[in-house]
Amino acid sequence: MRALTVRPGTAGTAQLEDRPDPAPSDGQLLVEGLAIGVCGTDREIIAGDYGTAPPGRDRLVLGHESLGRVRHAPPGSDFHDGDLVVGVVRRPDPVPCGACAHGAFDMCRNGRYTERGIKELDGYAAQLWTVEPDYAVRLDPRLAEVGVLMEPTTVVAKAWEQADTIGARSWYDPQRVLVTGAGPIGLLAALLGIQRGLDVHVLDRVATGPKVDAVAALGATYHHGPVDEVAGKLQPDVVIEATGAGSVVFDAIANTAPYGITCLTGVSTPGRRLSIDAGAQNREIVLENDVVVGSVNANLGHYRAAAEALGRADVDWLRRLITRRVPLEQFTEALTAHPDDIKVVLTLS
Ligand code: BGC
Repeated sequence: MRALTVRPGTAGTAQLEDRPDPAPSDGQLLVEGLAIGVCGTDREIIAGDYGTAPPGRDRLVLGHESLGRVRHAPPGSDFHDGDLVVGVVRRPDPVPCGACAHGAFDMCRNGRYTERGIKELDGYAAQLWTVEPDYAVRLDPRLAEVGVLMEPTTVVAKAWEQADTIGARSWYDPQRVLVTGAGPIGLLAALLGIQRGLDVHVLDRVATGPKVDAVAALGATYHHGPVDEVAGKLQPDVVIEATGAGSVVFDAIANTAPYGITCLTGVSTPGRRLSIDAGAQNREIVLENDVVVGSVNANLGHYRAAAEALGRADVDWLRRLITRRVPLEQFTEALTAHPDDIKVVLTLS
C-alpha cells in the first residue's frame, strides 16, 4: 500500500512510499483510507517546522484529518465491515497525567501525549491503516463524501464547549457570535453557531468567492472590513478566532460585548511583532469580565458532538467546503495553496 511520509524537522522531504500492508494487532480495526484533509499543521510539518517521527524511526506517515471504511472489524468490537469511520488524532500520555487519566487527553498537562500524523505516531495518509476501536468514531453513511471534515469539526465542537463552560460561570445568554477567518475551522464554527440558533457573523479578507458564498448559504452574515470596525459595531458575545493573526486576535479581544468570550483556535507563526496598548487591553478585559481562552485538539466527547453536528448539517453545504480533491499521487499539487481554497483533500483509494 502507498503512504505519504515525511522526515520531520527537514523541509521538502514529503514523498509517497510503498509500505507493507499493516496487520491489525489484537482488537484493532483494519481500515481502507478514503481521504485525508490537508491543514496548516500538515504544511508546517512538511516545511520541517513541526512534527516528530515515531521513536527509533526517521519518517512519519502524515495525515490527521482522516476518513476511511472498515475493511475488517474484529468480532465484538461494535464496528462492522463497511462502516464509515474516522480515527482520533491524540492518544493520552503514558504516565498518565491527571487530565489524560480522566479522558481529557486534549488537555494533557505534561506534553507527553502522542498524535497520529503529527507527534510520534504514524498518521492516516495511507491506503490502509489500523486503529484501536476506542479511538475510531463511526459516521453517518450519508457523510461518505464529506466525513473528512470531521476532525476540524471536533476542534470547533471543543471551542464551543469552552465558550459554554466559561459562560456558565455567571448569567449567560449569548446572542451574537463573530467568527474571524472563513477557512474550514471558521466555517465549521459558524455552522455550529447557526445550529445553536445564534446570530452568526463571519469575517475574512476576501470580498468574493466560495467563502463568501458558503457564509451566505449558511444564513450567516459575511464581513470583510477591518476587524476593529466590524467587531466594534457588532459587539459580539462570543468570538471564535480562527486566523491566528496577531492583529486580528487583539482587535477581536478589544471589541467583544461585556462578559465577552474570545476563543483562540489559530496556531500562529512566532516571530511577528505587533505594537499594542497593553494597558487598554487589560483594562477592558478586567472592567468587562471578559475571558480569552486557547483551545486545541479534541477528546472523545468532542468527537461525538462533532459527529452529531455533521449528521444534522446539510451535506450540500458541507460539500462546498471541500474545494479541491487531489489524488494521492499528485500530493504536491494539494500542498500548493490556491486563492479560492477552503479545504483541500487528498483521495487515497
Ligand atoms: C490538529 C490538532 C492537534 C494540533 C497540534 C491541529 O492541526 O487539528 O488535533 O492537536 O494540530 O498538534
